Amino acid sequence: MDLVLFGPPGAGKGTQAAVLSDELGIPQVATGDIFRRHLKEGTELGVLAQSFMGKGQLVPDEVVWDIVETRLAEDDCKDGVLLDGFPRSVRQAELLVQWLESQGRRLHAVTALQLPDETIVARLGGRRTCMSCGATYHVEHNPTSVEGVCNRCDGEVVQRKDDHEETIRARLATYKEQTEPVLTYFRQFDLVTDIDGTGSIEAVSQRLRLAIG
Ligand code: AP5
Ligand code: MG
Ligand code: ZN
Repeated sequence: MDLVLFGPPGAGKGTQAAVLSDELGIPQVATGDIFRRHLKEGTELGVLAQSFMGKGQLVPDEVVWDIVETRLAEDDCKDGVLLDGFPRSVRQAELLVQWLESQGRRLHAVTALQLPDETIVARLGGRRTCMSCGATYHVEHNPTSVEGVCNRCDGEVVQRKDDHEETIRARLATYKEQTEPVLTYFRQFDLVTDIDGTGSIEAVSQRLRLAIG
């Protein structure tokens, strides 16, 4: 089953993708996590990606598609993937649809998390992220058991550089300009289900399960 978990920055895509990926038995493919891993390893791609991420801008489509196509070709993705943070432009959406078609696959659904900007800013301001596995936490809503240590992999849990207020606002503006039109694109194929992203993590998971079926 191929699914897109769509939503603005801080909507809870990563949080929900971790839950659903386990339940559905399909890997979570998160482009932001892949870039952060590269940056940590000091690769050329990581440095290039950071020059856009640090400003809250999108990494260019060709760069993104190159890493996504490589990831999708791996063996564990052959029965489906849960995409988190991709596609983020209409061009990326077109490339995804074409690639799936070439493999005899099609998207099962695009679940779109909806929530007000103030909630986004509050969630991102308190977020902490594992630098090793990408797991996300929140200082109030979902803290780690031991401060600074990931529950899942014992990795180091820190505040992302782009989670400071100015960059959060830039990311929201980029989302509205370049990413929201992806929903209009998918709506023409009747693939989109809007999901209320407010409430507890479990309440949102339950809405997603119902929508995915
Ligand atoms: P990316 O890493 O994808 O960041 P993002 O889209 O801005 O989304 P986030 O990861 O910030 O939020 P999320 O929706 O995953 O929320 P989370 O679950 O963590 O991308 C980063 C950058 O990389 C981009 O800006 C861009 O530069 C580049 N990039 C990545 N992909 C790209 C692409 N395809 N094309 C071009 N550029 C690309 O939750 C947020 C917080 O809220 C957490 O603390 C969490 O614990 C908490 N929380 C979650 N759910 C709840 C709840 N129900 N109640 C209370 N708290 C909650
Ligand atoms: Mg995320
Ligand atoms: Zn971890």
